[in-house]
Amino acid sequence: MASERTLSIIKPDATERNITGRIVAKLEGAGLRVIAQKRTWWKKKDARKFYDMHKDQSFYRDLITFMTSGPLVLQVLEGDSAIAKNREVMGATNPVDAEPGTIRKEFGINMQRNSVHGSDSIETAKREIAQCFKKAEIVG
Ligand code: RTP
Ligand code: MG
Repeated sequence: MASERTLSIIKPDATERNITGRIVAKLEGAGLRVIAQKRTWWKKKDARKFYDMHKDQSFYRDLITFMTSGPLVLQVLEGDSAIAKNREVMGATNPVDAEPGTIRKEFGINMQRNSVHGSDSIETAKREIAQCFKKAEIVG
């Protein structure tokens, strides 16, 4: 298995409920290492750039509003097959469909307020990490 890096975001519904530590514990428990982390509050332009691929979706406007409604925790995670491993521990987009033990099953509220984001491919991970972190902020 190849070591990979992926971008993780702990979303505003989770920072609001003060459960970021419980989410990090799940990520680390799955074998992922946090090699960069910062708390930030996105401007609309940051969220629009990040979710550009969803700009024609019906949920886009609500998604931008949600992702700028409170603080986020941005992270780079590293590990063997980190992209797939992270998405496995996150669970399905809609918490009602997520497997038991996953972050979204335990902490997600609904389809939008689903607590975490994770990159979905190597190319996406590269782009998302570059948008969120300077090279010197990533210490693997
Ligand atoms: P993410 O990008 O956050 O890791 O989640 P994902 O791949 O599982 O879901 P994606 O299809 O990329 O959608 C991005 C985020 O948009 C919100 N969403 N709302 N109301 C809706 O129908 C709807 N669909 C998606 C969610 O916050 C989702 O994580
Ligand atoms: Mg996605």
